Amino acid sequence: SSLQVGILDVDLCGPSIPRMFRVQDNDVHQCDSGWVPVFVDQDKSISLMSIGFLLERPDDAVVWRGPKKNALIKQFVADVAWGDLDFLIVDTPPGTSDEHISTVEALRPYKPLGAILVTTPQAVSVGDVRRELTFCKKTGLRVLGIVENMSGFVCPHCSECTNIFSKGGGEELAKHAGVPFLGCVPLDPQLSQSLEEGRDFIQEFPKSSAFPALAHITQQILDGTSQQSS
Ligand SMILES: Nc1ncnc2c1ncn2[C@@H]1O[C@H](COP(=O)(O)OP(=O)(O)OP(=O)(O)O)[C@@H](O)[C@H]1O
Ligand SMILES: [Mg+2]
Ligand SMILES: [Zn+2]
Repeated sequence: SSLQVGILDVDLCGPSIPRMFRVQDNDVHQCDSGWVPVFVDQDKSISLMSIGFLLERPDDAVVWRGPKKNALIKQFVADVAWGDLDFLIVDTPPGTSDEHISTVEALRPYKPLGAILVTTPQAVSVGDVRRELTFCKKTGLRVLGIVENMSGFVCPHCSECTNIFSKGGGEELAKHAGVPFLGCVPLDPQLSQSLEEGRDFIQEFPKSSAFPALAHITQQILDGTSQQSS
């Protein structure tokens, strides 16, 4: 029972998703219905679009002004041959800037399910997410929930958990804001290795500490959105 999932990387200045899937050397092509996204798996169940596929040097976008970013993000939503998707996941850079405003506007006609906010346990990051919560409220975007990433480190030798960046900031913020807390993801060397090398985390590291955490969060999201989309 595989779902069709599109991933749209709107981190125009630092597109990292192509590398995480080890498809950074792919090109996108034009067809009648627009740009063809890059499929990252053999089953063609995950398709990806990123500025990383379009620019010679992705750093070029660092100097772009708002209108240019806005135009590209609109194209990424409307002019990509996404096909029939069950979900479109949009990864934004941190913050509440041009990319976020453009994304919300471009997606509005499609009635997006909502936003997932990711924080680390420290106060600074929690502050960023607090501003992102305000952004969602002002733009009328539902908050599906908050995830606390880098929450504790499980020692691979003795399995003891150390809270390197403290713990609980994300859950506290969720409670305070009255939005769901989706779960914690521990710091996991196998996860970072997997992302660095573009390996298939689910296939290769089912025993790692981040695996059950990510599975739990995914289920929470699916549970929370199934009532809404059906
Ligand atoms: N739970 C984790 N365990 C181990 N490494 C992680 C974990 N979460 C993230 N990382 C590593 O840190 C890097 C940056 O994390 P992430 O992509 O989540 O950051 P970000 O907030 O999206 O920042 P940006 O998009 O600005 O780079 C990842 O590429 C990954 O290698
Ligand atoms: Mg990112
Ligand atoms: Zn130990």
